[in-house]
Amino acid sequence: MKNAQPKTIYLKDYQPPNYLIDTTELRVELMEEGATVTATLKMRRNSHAGEDAPLLLHGIELELRELKIDGRVLDANEYYADAESLTIEQVPAEFVLESTVFIKPQENTSLEGLYKSDDMFCTQCEAEGFRKITYYLDRPDVMSEYTTTVVADKAGYPVLLSNGNPIDSGELDNGRHFVTWHDPFKKPSYLFALVAGDLEYIEDSFTTMSGRNIELRIFVEEKDIDKCDHAMRSLKKSMAWDEEVYGREYDLDIFMIVAVDAFNMGAMENKGLNIFNTSAVLAKTETTTDAAFQRVEAIVAHEYFHNWSGNRVTCRDWFQLSLKEGFTVFRDAEFSADMGSRVVKRVEDVSLLRTAQFSEDAGPMAHPVQPASFIEISNFYTLTVYEKGCEVVRMYHTLLGPELFREGSDLYFDRHDGQAATIEDFTRCMEEVSGRDLTQFKRWYSQAGTPRLDVNGSYDADAQTYTLNFAQSCPATPESAEKQPFHIPVTLGLVGQQGDLPLTLQGVEQTETYTDMVLEITESEQSFVFENVTEQPVPSLLRDFSAPVKLDFPYSNADLTFLMSRDSDGFNRWDACQKLATGILEGLVQAQLDGATMELDSSLVAAFRTVLNDDSLDPAMVALMLKLPSEAYLAEEADVIHVDEIHNAREFVRDQLAQQLKAEFQAAYDSNQVSEPYEPSAAQIAKRSLKNVALGYLMLADDDAISLARSQYDNANNMTDSAAALALLVCSDKPQAQHQAAELIIAFYEKWQQEALVVNQWFTVQAIAPQQGAVERVRELMQHPAFDIKNPNKVRSLIGAFCANNHVNFHRTDGAGYQLLADMVIELNTLNPQIAARLLAPLSKWQKQIPQRQQLMKEQLSRILATEELSKDVYEVVSKSLK
Ligand code: TRP
Ligand code: ZN
Repeated sequence: MKNAQPKTIYLKDYQPPNYLIDTTELRVELMEEGATVTATLKMRRNSHAGEDAPLLLHGIELELRELKIDGRVLDANEYYADAESLTIEQVPAEFVLESTVFIKPQENTSLEGLYKSDDMFCTQCEAEGFRKITYYLDRPDVMSEYTTTVVADKAGYPVLLSNGNPIDSGELDNGRHFVTWHDPFKKPSYLFALVAGDLEYIEDSFTTMSGRNIELRIFVEEKDIDKCDHAMRSLKKSMAWDEEVYGREYDLDIFMIVAVDAFNMGAMENKGLNIFNTSAVLAKTETTTDAAFQRVEAIVAHEYFHNWSGNRVTCRDWFQLSLKEGFTVFRDAEFSADMGSRVVKRVEDVSLLRTAQFSEDAGPMAHPVQPASFIEISNFYTLTVYEKGCEVVRMYHTLLGPELFREGSDLYFDRHDGQAATIEDFTRCMEEVSGRDLTQFKRWYSQAGTPRLDVNGSYDADAQTYTLNFAQSCPATPESAEKQPFHIPVTLGLVGQQGDLPLTLQGVEQTETYTDMVLEITESEQSFVFENVTEQPVPSLLRDFSAPVKLDFPYSNADLTFLMSRDSDGFNRWDACQKLATGILEGLVQAQLDGATMELDSSLVAAFRTVLNDDSLDPAMVALMLKLPSEAYLAEEADVIHVDEIHNAREFVRDQLAQQLKAEFQAAYDSNQVSEPYEPSAAQIAKRSLKNVALGYLMLADDDAISLARSQYDNANNMTDSAAALALLVCSDKPQAQHQAAELIIAFYEKWQQEALVVNQWFTVQAIAPQQGAVERVRELMQHPAFDIKNPNKVRSLIGAFCANNHVNFHRTDGAGYQLLADMVIELNTLNPQIAARLLAPLSKWQKQIPQRQQLMKEQLSRILATEELSKDVYEVVSKSLK
């Protein structure tokens, strides 16, 4: 690497700021050749700082035009600027700093700071983008009151938005106009936002619990105005839910959402002015799948909930990121559970955690929920901080119970309102309201890695006791090899022939009997004895996935089949099915390695038949149970990943199930048709998901199903059904299906080429088709006029989808898949470092691959590391993965 080695930032080095900014006045002049930003900051020295403390402001890629203190222009020798900062050696205790800089949003492809998406100007400041707009103390513990004036050409940019309430507007010379916004709530710079464009909006209102009327607006480009209703409904539901469940009311008089097409993440919670990726806000029946409708509802809720968990109470520093993200993911997950099916939501979230987060936790970038250090904070917006962080909050909820948890959250919001808080502040509130010492529990924040729980049980028929023995351990991760025991809540029941047995725990006073209880595992090894157990039970452990651990219990296939139909916990019924299928698939991978022929254990067919015939089950649960564990999950579970054998084992089992259960799949397909007009309701989504899973099996069972899929495609009145049929045809090996697919790929594009989000689905379907030649196909699609490397949604839907969901082709043993990814990373490194670093993740996980693949993956990583002018983002991931 040519540039100096990037610096590591440590949590232990945290120091409060030497200077504070009470008020921030911005004037942003937007022009076609660039933008001029004038910042007037009322500043003062912080109480702990000495008179000689220099003023160090953050600033990146800013062209300084003028710098004044208390109205006096500074000479060039009175300050010092480098690539990332500006230092003034001597400043008074209180002063007004005024800077004018020139920036070029039109050339900003990093999508951080002020940039252009299509024809509009927009901003993304989290985590450290504000320093690309003006010189500032760009750190979340510096909170200021903002007044922002946006100036632009009126014809090109009739809509000018920023945080808070509009307080002034008017016409200027040369067809220009301005709007001034004032945000009465102090906020850190990462929550600043500005938008200017030719936008349309839909409007609605919400009356809060105290009777205040809130104006709600969703701004989009004119062509998308028919796709905003679902997001608006979701917003109103979120506002009502946060009042009902957390007692939290919205504070400003107006709440705005703006949709932009070029965006690095899903959405951003800027105060009063959320900016969304179009993919996280736009939805309509004809263009949007069920999954995408649900994602819109969840993300709208997530960003809205940040108004309290993130904005009113913000983070002291970026090591506290999970304080707002883990908590807010927990809040949005509970919201989604309340809006739809609780068990289905839980299964989906746990599946993501177990595949993607567990794999992150086992890889070279593994880090605790509260990291101790980073090179580039953008690399730490991870599944660990978000999803595992959510699980940690959920464990508080489990340990304290819903009432105390609510008391704890009330205390947290009240005590820290208007402050930049820490994870420690949050945990202290939970400790105070419960009166419990949660010191050990807090290891969940500081120790990385997925704990293992090895459990066994024994029944003593004479004594009528059942003993459970727990042993916990945790693999080494980069930050530490030795782990202290975790405090693990294990919700469990004992299932007998007639259902859950009453639980009597030895040595514990119980006034009531339960069929469900939370055991707290705190030691490396621990045993629990249940008394008055009248029959040999099958334990149902970790109900509702009560802790983010890998639990192993020596279940027989018969035990798992039993739990699948008898467990009172819906999540564990699904999990029993997963465990059964996983065990069988792992056996088939081994069979191939041993050169044996594959044979399917009859218990899986029998279990699937039972599930398909069980009318009491929600069709969505049936669909989830019938989906075999993904290749990614099987890879995560394996010690050594045999990519092709995993794929073949799965295909073999799918084929066998299809042949043996053809009649049942046909019946499921026929009885789950929806005749009512489309709506993304839990009931309809359930039916469509089962119907489309059944169609997938039918396609394997016989050739007639090819025309069934084709007619579903032709007759569908919604995107869920047409996209499912298209994907099945494109992914099928049958020549007849391939023939249809070739035709539909052309027709689908013709029909939807004006709809960017639909074209993205079209890229994805082609990227994940497992047939040979996918690398070449993806390279070809990169040349397609609809592809644009500067648009992250396009990159994700083509390259990201290929690497994550087409294992046999990505891991091709000639290394062509790895080379494709490395080429993309190198190209994106200069254009958009955040996206480059994210894209890189699949290449960093070479440790469990077979030696031949390890070698090829490391070669590409080394090639990236040797690239000149490597961004911090890519450098951090690539250097840590080669360690
Ligand atoms: N805070 C955003 C959220 O709700 C995350 C986010 C949006 C983000 N855009 C970003 C983080 C850009 C880093 C960079 O989760
Ligand atoms: Zn968030």
